[in-house]
Amino acid sequence: MKNIRGKIVCVFSAKGGIGKTTTVLNLAGIYQKLDKKVLIIDLDLSGGAIAVALNKVPEKSVYNIIDDMDNNRYNSLGSYVTKYNDKIDFLAAPKDPRQAPKIDSKYLDLILDKAIYSYDVVLIDTNHIISEINLAALEKSDRVLFMVTNDPYDLKNMKSLLSIFRDLEFKKYKILLNNSRDPLKNYFSLYDLRNILKDNIDYTLSPKFYIKNIDDYVINGKIITLDDKCASVCATDYTTLVGLATDFLEEEKKGEDSEK
Ligand SMILES: Nc1ncnc2c1ncn2[C@@H]1O[C@H](COP(=O)(O)OP(=O)(O)OP(=O)(O)O)[C@@H](O)[C@H]1O
Ligand SMILES: [Mg+2]
Repeated sequence: MKNIRGKIVCVFSAKGGIGKTTTVLNLAGIYQKLDKKVLIIDLDLSGGAIAVALNKVPEKSVYNIIDDMDNNRYNSLGSYVTKYNDKIDFLAAPKDPRQAPKIDSKYLDLILDKAIYSYDVVLIDTNHIISEINLAALEKSDRVLFMVTNDPYDLKNMKSLLSIFRDLEFKKYKILLNNSRDPLKNYFSLYDLRNILKDNIDYTLSPKFYIKNIDDYVINGKIITLDDKCASVCATDYTTLVGLATDFLEEEKKGEDSEK
């Protein structure tokens, strides 16, 4: 148990399949390299992919922890997480998707309150639905990373989402443009994207970060950013991810909000 409170970082998007899970895993790898202890929580409750991507078979899931909390059987966070390596643990999504609707979001706060004193960073992977549990995660997080691609449907949805969040004075987010998911999608320039979203693009992953053999990483349970080659072969994007990861460890700077 640490005395210092860790940071909660939630990755969210307005459309599915745009690279959230890949980015959560890559950030976990970066935090490991920064010597931080990381917990990934898979809140993609019916389609969770973290266990598959890390090639692990979890014994317990987020369903078990919440069910045990609900029935006064909760023991300690450590008995529900699955270990990936010395630095990275994860709390898996439910094994059975029918358990997803049974998960009461009120317990997420409790899990996070415990996790932040055992880990330096808690990374939350989500799906793109505005569900109660995702809203609870966004609310509770110190930092939120909204991911967007150069895709008209995605942009339309993200534009609406951002305008709602701005109306709600929700300011703790940064926006990551992911051009690595689909390098052929480059219709809109950065200038267009800022105009469409009426917001700043804080970080960009370039088309060069498109990983042809990404499924090899998944099948072998390997994290891209922990591959020795990544820092040199994808130097620019690796540096972007290190910058993002480091920014998110810092307290929100005064004046940062005024950009939003
Ligand atoms: N940099 C990349 N290079 C190649 N393929 C990628 C890259 N990033 C993501 N992908 C692929 O794109 C697909 C979607 O990525 P990912 O699962 O990370 O997105 P997601 O936003 O988490 O999706 P969902 O909303 O379904 O959870 C996956 O098949 C993944 O392997
Ligand atoms: Mg995902």
